[in-house]
Amino acid sequence: MDLSYFHVAGDVPKGLEPETAVVIDVLRATTTIAWALHNGAEAVETFADLEQLKKKSHEWPQDSRLLVGERGGKRIEGFDLGNSPVDVLPSLVRGKRLFMSTTNGTRSLDVVRNAGTLYTMALPNRRAVAERLLCEMPNQLCIIGSGWEGTYSLEDSLAAGALAAFLLDKASNSVEIVNDELTAALALWDKWKEDREGCLRLASHGRRLIGLGDHDADFKCCSELDQIDVVPFQVEVGVLSAS
Ligand code: MLT
Repeated sequence: MDLSYFHVAGDVPKGLEPETAVVIDVLRATTTIAWALHNGAEAVETFADLEQLKKKSHEWPQDSRLLVGERGGKRIEGFDLGNSPVDVLPSLVRGKRLFMSTTNGTRSLDVVRNAGTLYTMALPNRRAVAERLLCEMPNQLCIIGSGWEGTYSLEDSLAAGALAAFLLDKASNSVEIVNDELTAALALWDKWKEDREGCLRLASHGRRLIGLGDHDADFKCCSELDQIDVVPFQVEVGVLSAS
């Protein structure tokens, strides 16, 4: 399996439609997606565009939908929930479809929606996604971060390194690191793997969240490793289900 990492979806070379892609947005979209599906959401349908989200969500029965999302880290006015993984409680999300839009994470997903197979990952479901990849053993895997408005983010690179480290540990003979971005992500993981929360707090988006108010519970949740077994998988364009 040839592994490459792109800091943001815009870095994926034009014309490259990944055979298998894993999208990461540690703070916080893919952590929220993992927890929502783990807690029984029927699916998470993601949107780059808010007007599209509003249109599609209104076609869904009101009692089985929730609008979820943020802009700049703050809940979108009129939405049921923001983008906190600790808010997608089973009592709220079980059986519901979440219509979600976030500043960066859902935009990354939109860019690579035509990948042959598309997963999302965060630190709490790292092992589950890695084990799925080891079973499927695609020839080529693109790991794609979400960054912040097109720029690098420390926390997504940390998680890319965490995924690559797991794959190398379990199948070093079958895994090839093919770009420098992933070599750097592995070094980042090596440095911060015992203080993941410290890394998230140091990251520029971590500091942005701290500036917006108390996000201690989010930091704790987003930095937990290998805690849940859910593998979010794109079942139709824009729609992620647990698998
Ligand atoms: C994003 O998509 O940019 C993030 O999930 C922002 C956030 O922390 O809510």
